Amino acid sequence: MPPATEGTVVGPEMPALQETLDLYGAVGWGAYTDEPATLMRALAGSARVVTARRDGRLLGLARVIGDGATIVYLQDVLVHPDARRSGVGRRLVDAAFAPFADVRQQVLLTDAEPGQRAFYESLGFTEVHDHEPELRSFVRQ
Ligand SMILES: CC(C)(COP(=O)(O)OP(=O)(O)OC[C@H]1O[C@@H](n2cnc3c(N)ncnc32)[C@H](O)[C@@H]1OP(=O)(O)O)[C@@H](O)C(=O)NCCC(=O)NCCS
Repeated sequence: MPPATEGTVVGPEMPALQETLDLYGAVGWGAYTDEPATLMRALAGSARVVTARRDGRLLGLARVIGDGATIVYLQDVLVHPDARRSGVGRRLVDAAFAPFADVRQQVLLTDAEPGQRAFYESLGFTEVHDHEPELRSFVRQ
């Protein structure tokens, strides 16, 4: 384990409401923090929620949704701005998918922000327009 992640505990857990709101708020995800009850329902309905903590403080979270057999989606991965680029995001994604290693389709949809392509490619994901054989993705919002 790299020294920067020493003391950071990553594992499955349902975090409490206020610390969850604080974390999502620190990342600026107002669509979640505006609807706290919906956010907690979303976490409760996820196939797996993992957190990262250091000295008890919630530093990050990732969650997977899906059927657990043929398809799983990484729905959120977020790391507090104070704790980035020290391997916490990678550990969260690895822990979130750990029980689903044999699931054929592992997918996610995310904003086209700088750094995210590098992050997901470093974890072995391929952007859909680079995939062979060719794939399409669709969204309805
Ligand atoms: C994306 C996010 C989860 C990454 O978390 P993190 O803990 O900083 O990521 P890691 O330290 O595990 O990074 C692993 C690798 O990904 C790549 N990477 C991560 N962030 C990057 C960035 N901003 N720019 C370029 N590469 C990046 C690097 O290759 C990095 O390895 P390195 O630091 O040894 O070079 C974090 O930036 C975040 O919470 N962003 C806001 C929320 C978000 O956009 N989530 C994703 C959409 S759901």
